[in-house]
Amino acid sequence: MPVRAAEATPYSTAAGARQAENAAVAAKLAAVDWDFKVRVVQHDIESVHPYPAKFIADLPGAFLDVLPVPSGGLIMDPFCGSGTTLAEAQRRGFETLGVDLNPIACLMARVKTSPLPEGVLKSADLVVRELDKSAAVEVPLIPNLAHWFKPSIQVALTRLTQAIERAPEAHKDFLRLAASSIIVRVSNQESDTRYAAIEKGVEAKDVREAFRKSCDRLHAALTSRFYVLNAATVVEGDLLKVDMGEYSGRVGMIVTSPPYPNAYEYWLYHKYRMWWLGHNPISVKEKEIGARAHFFKKNRHTSETFVHQMQEAFARFGELLMPGGWVCFVVGRSVIHGEVIDNAKIVEEAGLAMGFEAVYRGTRNVLGSRKSFNLSHANIKQEAIVVLRKVAS
Ligand SMILES: C[S@@+](CC[C@H](N)C(=O)[O-])C[C@H]1O[C@@H](n2cnc3c(N)ncnc32)[C@H](O)[C@@H]1O
Repeated sequence: MPVRAAEATPYSTAAGARQAENAAVAAKLAAVDWDFKVRVVQHDIESVHPYPAKFIADLPGAFLDVLPVPSGGLIMDPFCGSGTTLAEAQRRGFETLGVDLNPIACLMARVKTSPLPEGVLKSADLVVRELDKSAAVEVPLIPNLAHWFKPSIQVALTRLTQAIERAPEAHKDFLRLAASSIIVRVSNQESDTRYAAIEKGVEAKDVREAFRKSCDRLHAALTSRFYVLNAATVVEGDLLKVDMGEYSGRVGMIVTSPPYPNAYEYWLYHKYRMWWLGHNPISVKEKEIGARAHFFKKNRHTSETFVHQMQEAFARFGELLMPGGWVCFVVGRSVIHGEVIDNAKIVEEAGLAMGFEAVYRGTRNVLGSRKSFNLSHANIKQEAIVVLRKVAS
């Protein structure tokens, strides 16, 4: 039976208004210079610890400044890494929610969004004093340890990590992050992005000095957050499995850059940081979306695997988002066994298949100076910006 005009009007008016709002938002997004050739401000908390493929803060900032977040909605990054989206949302007065599989990512995101614990530098001094003790220690069983760490450094890092675990609970994350930030520096590893063992002339005293300096730097960076620290929650786990029931219908906007096939290896980058801080990097690798290892084994992953993972992710977003909530993705292409994979198309189609509407698609150039990882195998020079929206009813 044909719908009479009088009946159709309320629906089409609402849909029409939403389409007009989407078009206005798309026009604003199109006006953003996504390359961020000139950065206005660089905040100290952006560089407290290295993280591969982390956002420059302007990127999540641009989404937060342009899109109308449904009132009271949380800002979520479901692959939050070092917590850039969370920190930028907090800076703008939002409450935030992050998820990441990698415990080093979660540690960074927690520390960057939590109040600075009082008296933490006193704890840092006590930890440093432990390093001067001469009692024997039992070095943890870590695969290939002797290749990457000199015996004197092994002992110093054992003392350091054990002393941190004896510190007051409220100080531990701060101290762990400071310790994590020096692991590669005091190891034999050439650099964060070069996995060759070389003689760097490091000694046990360098562990003490580097750790204490790192504590001061972190302290200064956290002190320079001149904004109210609204609630921030970081959930450590596999986005596709972890229970998020308590956040159903509470998220106003998702801003993320997902892991994508055969590009970055977060578990590998933080492998020894995880071992030293008592985590198991191998179990992280197994659940890490896109990890290169999954593409070079028997029953290997393919681009289809990523299609399914993104559909599952959007099914979760559908539950978590408020009506009219936004999903903003920044994603590059990948090359799997010579085949170029358009991950932005996969993300967009996964969203559309789960009932989201497409709002905007743009491109940004990844400037050479902004690369935080050696990606010669993937050659990522451009990223896509994809914005979708949960339908309002
Ligand atoms: C591109 S990085 C995010 C970087 C982040 N935007 C930042 O500014 O630091 C992607 C993240 O996805 C995480 N990840 C990979 N597989 C995951 C999974 N199954 N569940 C949750 N997080 C995952 C990785 O650990 C990594 O931190």
